[in-house]
Amino acid sequence: MTASFDSTAQFEGRVARPAEAEVDMLFVPVFQDEDRLEDLADLDDATGGWVSRVRASGEFRGRLFELFLTRVTRGWKAERVALVGAGRRGEATPERVRKIAAACGYTARLRAVPSVGWVVRAGLDAGMAAQAAADGLSDAEFNTGTFKEDTSADGVYPQRLVILAPGADAQLVTAAVARGRIIGAASNAARALANEPGNCLTPSKFAARVAAFATSPGLVVDVLDEPRIRELKMGLLLGVACGSAEPPRVVVIRYEPAGAPATPVLGLIGKGVTFDSGGISIKPADGMEQMKSDMSGGAAVAAAMRAIALLGGPHRVIAVIPMAENMPGGRATRPGDVLTAASGKTVEIINTDAEGRLILGDAVWYAQQLGATHLVDVATLTGACMIALGKAASGVFGVPDTWVDTVRSAGARAGDRLWPLPLFDEYREQLKSEIADFVNSGGRPAGASTAAWFIREFVDNRPWVHMDIAGTAWNDERKAYQPKGPTGVAVRTLIELGMTGGRTR
Ligand code: BES
Ligand code: MN
Ligand code: ZN
Repeated sequence: MTASFDSTAQFEGRVARPAEAEVDMLFVPVFQDEDRLEDLADLDDATGGWVSRVRASGEFRGRLFELFLTRVTRGWKAERVALVGAGRRGEATPERVRKIAAACGYTARLRAVPSVGWVVRAGLDAGMAAQAAADGLSDAEFNTGTFKEDTSADGVYPQRLVILAPGADAQLVTAAVARGRIIGAASNAARALANEPGNCLTPSKFAARVAAFATSPGLVVDVLDEPRIRELKMGLLLGVACGSAEPPRVVVIRYEPAGAPATPVLGLIGKGVTFDSGGISIKPADGMEQMKSDMSGGAAVAAAMRAIALLGGPHRVIAVIPMAENMPGGRATRPGDVLTAASGKTVEIINTDAEGRLILGDAVWYAQQLGATHLVDVATLTGACMIALGKAASGVFGVPDTWVDTVRSAGARAGDRLWPLPLFDEYREQLKSEIADFVNSGGRPAGASTAAWFIREFVDNRPWVHMDIAGTAWNDERKAYQPKGPTGVAVRTLIELGMTGGRTR
């Protein structure tokens, strides 16, 4: 399994002219509109006039992800130049730069190019663009086919990646590249965990893996085993886990940097269902294999914690990741059973497939016990959210609106698309039970909102946001910048929140 955090690839930030870059392939983003390449005046000459020729003929127009490769014949030190379409200049967000760089990284990897360069174009914020480029080039290191014996289709990831921001401040560029690399590697670490099958990533193995990579300076990890979980009376988590032969875990990661203010204490909670069969309310066979990634929220939280520590975030952060396997064994929870949460509330289980909200209920409660003042939970929670928003955005819910806005703007800066969905009081009615405090499923109408309401029942009077990533955690079709498979969604938003403590920059 690729442990991106342990990768040996070398990333460098440089402020020299692109002509000086001694690399095998130098990527030059070219905009679709009004791009005279005035910051790269000698590029055309270096390629024997090919750059102007293909732009004049219309062979290369600068449309997003378009590629044109040519040899360098004189002047520049790179072996080859690759023009890459960057789309319209006005749309050059950090997210877009990252995706273009990721597409270039995949191109280089598939061609086994040992060293690559990336040119930050004039007119962009050099720090932003260098960070996004390093992040995107890192994305391409992620390998989905880790179990294949035949690795010939994987290509070879470059050993040296140089980001050139001509004329920019050297320290600023070096720092930006280092940040981008940490963030990209964090996303890859989350993707690697989400990609692992349920037989390899059981709750105990998930906990061990998270504990192993959360050893950065400043992080303290605590893995709660089943007896500890019983002592804490986490009846919802135990009720989900009891149908499986694999015992549950709760991983707590604390980040308490010296000199951090007493508040905020950001509480990050991630759903860690290592496989969701549905339990006794079993899922249909078609597509059930996808439920190996039902721990994507937990993986995102764990990876973000490591990155926040490596980046030296100034605020306190506590992560709580409940881990369980949802299976229909002989001791499984039945529909009609009543479970008692750690908070004392009782829940009538009417659908054992609505398990994510159960383990999150106990975990959200615990994060507050540990002192979290501002909560964000991340979960592949409902098919209903995927029906509502498709794969284009994660759903966000929460109170108060100001905290939702804070998380949304962190998402916008980080390049995770988040879209608000409502928590109308009417939806809460759907959770009424005859026998207990509430049922665990509100049925099909507004299914994403009733799931969010369930979690809200465990939030005690403090800002809370729930991100439903059911539609966004997995990419079903190959894109120029991303293969089929886990996306690393939410990792960047959580890092951004951890770095800013939830304050807008
Ligand atoms: N893990 C699923 C949600 C899910 C579905 C994630 C598809 C990713 C892709 C969750 O545990 C679940 O089964 N939710 C049920 C809730 C229902 C029983 C109220 C659902 O969405 O159908
Ligand atoms: Mn389920
Ligand atoms: Zn689930």
